Amino acid sequence: MEICREIGKGKKYHIRTYGCQMNERDSETLAGILADLGYTRTASVEEADLILFNTCCVRETAERKIYGRLNELRPLKKKRPDLLIGVGGCMAQKDKERVLTKAPHVDFVFGTHNIQELPELISKAAALSEPLVQVWEEGQVPLVDLPAQREGKLKAYVTITYGCTNFCTYCIVPYVRGKERSRPPQDIIQEVTELAQEGYKEVTLLGQNVNTYGRDLGKGVSFAQLLREVNQVEGIQRIRYTTSHPRDFTAEIIAAVRDCDKVCEHFHLPIQAGSNRILQRMNRGYTREEYLQLVERIREEVPDCSITTDIIVGFPGEEEEDFAATLDIVRQVRFDNAFTFVFSPRSGTPAAKMKEQVPEDVKKERLNRLMELQDRISRDINEELRGKELEVLVEGTSKKEEKILTSRTRTNKLVLFPGEEDLMGELVTVRITRPQTWNLYGELVKIE
Ligand code: SAH
Ligand code: SF4
Ligand code: F3S
Repeated sequence: MEICREIGKGKKYHIRTYGCQMNERDSETLAGILADLGYTRTASVEEADLILFNTCCVRETAERKIYGRLNELRPLKKKRPDLLIGVGGCMAQKDKERVLTKAPHVDFVFGTHNIQELPELISKAAALSEPLVQVWEEGQVPLVDLPAQREGKLKAYVTITYGCTNFCTYCIVPYVRGKERSRPPQDIIQEVTELAQEGYKEVTLLGQNVNTYGRDLGKGVSFAQLLREVNQVEGIQRIRYTTSHPRDFTAEIIAAVRDCDKVCEHFHLPIQAGSNRILQRMNRGYTREEYLQLVERIREEVPDCSITTDIIVGFPGEEEEDFAATLDIVRQVRFDNAFTFVFSPRSGTPAAKMKEQVPEDVKKERLNRLMELQDRISRDINEELRGKELEVLVEGTSKKEEKILTSRTRTNKLVLFPGEEDLMGELVTVRITRPQTWNLYGELVKIE
């Protein structure tokens, strides 16, 4: 079918993104493709000629929210039948035709592996009276460089691996994102170099498990080597990466973080659970003892670093004593911050079929206890920063308070302080005056 390359001329699009940074990055690609077709962006759904949902299915709550939001568009679609609604991303990859059962006013559904087909999908959907479902089962590293319209001018996401082959027993991601595929190192370096030339100050290297980067390339390229190479790119001031897997965080990687001046002293190391029995049932591949050892080694090599984590409560078979082991390891490690989740059975994953499901009220109650403990620890750790001077990158302005800038420490803590907008993009030193649980208030000390 002939695709009109100007199909979006004079038209507006609106994208809603759910889920993790991979999806945020994919939405930048969707936006890039649409800009190439002549579309301009709008923040309002009422004004849009095309509405895209880039979806997540990691937990049931995410899906419920998305279908709820899709349903809210029914009256709009009825009023303006030529409005196009497209659903892509992980939930679309999983549900395929089922998206149309739940939301029949959707015009087209596409998956995580065929983003590049968007122009064709829009053309077809506009011409057809029936909804269209086009979801590829297999993923390849996109061979063509797809355009991107990035969200910021300062910080950029750079994908280094697609997919995941870890198959943690609770997780849907490997089923909807395909097996792990690494991008060639030269492509990554080239992208980072271009970003630096465009004025970007910070890059975040993205993958579901960045630590195993390069394994599938079979050329002896490792994540540690990649970090060292990215560190050489002139103009970039900060390098972050997410997500790490504690099982694959080697001594070589710790040394690279220690040696590379641009790589930030922040370790996001999802532990998921503190009980060895549960960790094993989750197929995580490490024990609590190994995790503690890793934390110890990291703190020895990279002092004053921050460590954050993800934790799931109520995994099938989790007894009170298993949960107590989670609380205990949280106390031992003293995480700077933790993202805590209630286990959500994802159909098709092994954990969803396990018999010993934990009742909802028990899960909720455990989550509350865990959050309470973690909040106290976060507050205590931040309190220790009172009066300290820290280097921050000024990233934006506060939405709630006037003349207040937002910035981040190398350890990824949010610092708010009074200042002028022309400091945007600068590295400055601030003194912490008022630490809180989630962020820090400070004052400007010096501009570097
Ligand atoms: N690849 C990353 C992120 C995966 S999704 C990693 O391995 O850490 C982000 C977080 O969602 C996970 O770390 C996990 O804590 C949580 N999560 C994943 N599946 C879940 C499920 N079925 N129920 C509840 N939380 C889940
Ligand atoms: Fe999911 Fe585990 Fe892969 Fe993370 S490492 S995406 S939790 S399967
Ligand atoms: Fe969600 Fe897909 Fe990310 S399931 S967490 S958007 S990889």
